[in-house]
Amino acid sequence: MKDYTQIFLGTAFTSKSPTEVQILKNNLFFVNADGMIDKIIAPEHLEYQNLVNSYKGKENFHQLEDHQYFLPGFVDLHVHAPQWAQAGTALDIPLNDWLNTYTFPIESKFSDLDFAKKVYNDVVSTLLANGTTTVLYFATVHKEASILLAQICAEKGQRGLVGKVVMDNPEENPDFYRDTDTNTALSDTEEFILAVKELGETYKQGVYPVVTPRFIPSCTDEALQGLGNLAAKYNTHIQSHCSESDWEHKYVQDRFQKNDAFALNDFGLLSDKSVMAHCNFISDEDADLFVETGTAIAHCPISNAYFANSVIPIAHFHSKGVEIGLGTDISGGFSPSLYDNIKQSVISSRMLEDGVNTKLPADERGVPGSRVTVNEAFYLATVGGGDSLSLPIGRLAENYIWDVQVIDTTNLPLYDSNDDLQDAFQKMIYLIRPENIREVWVQGEKVHSRG
Ligand code: GUN
Ligand code: FE
Repeated sequence: MKDYTQIFLGTAFTSKSPTEVQILKNNLFFVNADGMIDKIIAPEHLEYQNLVNSYKGKENFHQLEDHQYFLPGFVDLHVHAPQWAQAGTALDIPLNDWLNTYTFPIESKFSDLDFAKKVYNDVVSTLLANGTTTVLYFATVHKEASILLAQICAEKGQRGLVGKVVMDNPEENPDFYRDTDTNTALSDTEEFILAVKELGETYKQGVYPVVTPRFIPSCTDEALQGLGNLAAKYNTHIQSHCSESDWEHKYVQDRFQKNDAFALNDFGLLSDKSVMAHCNFISDEDADLFVETGTAIAHCPISNAYFANSVIPIAHFHSKGVEIGLGTDISGGFSPSLYDNIKQSVISSRMLEDGVNTKLPADERGVPGSRVTVNEAFYLATVGGGDSLSLPIGRLAENYIWDVQVIDTTNLPLYDSNDDLQDAFQKMIYLIRPENIREVWVQGEKVHSRG
């Protein structure tokens, strides 16, 4: 651990509001030993030049080169770490067939810790290389391999929030891949929570246990209630899938005569530390319940295009005050990049707003007001994710954590140094690839770099 303040000098982009991106041009960022931004000083400040002169050349002074910029590290609210092993596979079959034919067999292999180590090392490194500094992960039903994922995040310096997945319902899960029984599912979860909490205490950036019923069909009532109790007892984050597909939404209606949101709430699974993936078919009443309980949506636009046959009206739910962040949903979404998901969220929203049924007259197509701009999608990937997890991340601002990506635009088509920086920002968000992400820092520590 560094025992001194580090100073960073450069131009940063950070969300000021959902629609506005603030440009901090040639600012000084003072980052303390805990990895928090203590102070930001702009060139207009009287002491600015003196400070730059006094720190220049020192080991703890980091100045960006021309054509380099700071962006906040991204927050991915929905990743199935084991599914990295099948990214891009069989995305043209229905969700339920995909789970049974491909996903459950591959997840069952994570009883093998050597296999788990290989895949988990790769997915954590890949996400860091894509600028993602905090990730909310589903692991598998296996306690040991789930602890291993938390350990790998801790060692690689990523802020991982990890869930051992609970699937105890013998009627909906295959015999080869489920918890042995309800009591074991709950006792394994409790042991997992304790192990990851202990691990989190020794790593600066934090790793966190997450209570994780896979989705309602996977779990018995007893497991859902037991998990609600464990989340309350240990004050953990909670994650699940909610109203993702027609099939799953209807299953919950048949079982509980209500939507997923209300059913989950009855079991104590909606709280200000809850993040629900997808939510394509939630109603306005469900959204109100999310606002009331502080529950957030993990919006997974690439995955939704394949498995949900719908576009969630994100702009509508955002305007109602629901917290929303972005998720790749590896591997329902094939891409490990939140840049790709930012773009897809913009594109999907345009298709919802403008409509795709060309048989209708132009003024009768689509849903007005559905547009998500690139600035708004960037907000979801940063501030939205941080707020959803109730962590001080996602903004480059005082009292926030120094989680950043250093972007090098040398190979991007930014030819004119007099380009408007707001335009340059949008161009960067559309065109950045891992090659342009030169460094990634988490909690004041450099955790990734490429030449
Ligand atoms: N619903 C339950 N499990 C899953 C999963 O692994 N991926 C997706 N997209 N939806 C799910
Ligand atoms: Fe998922």
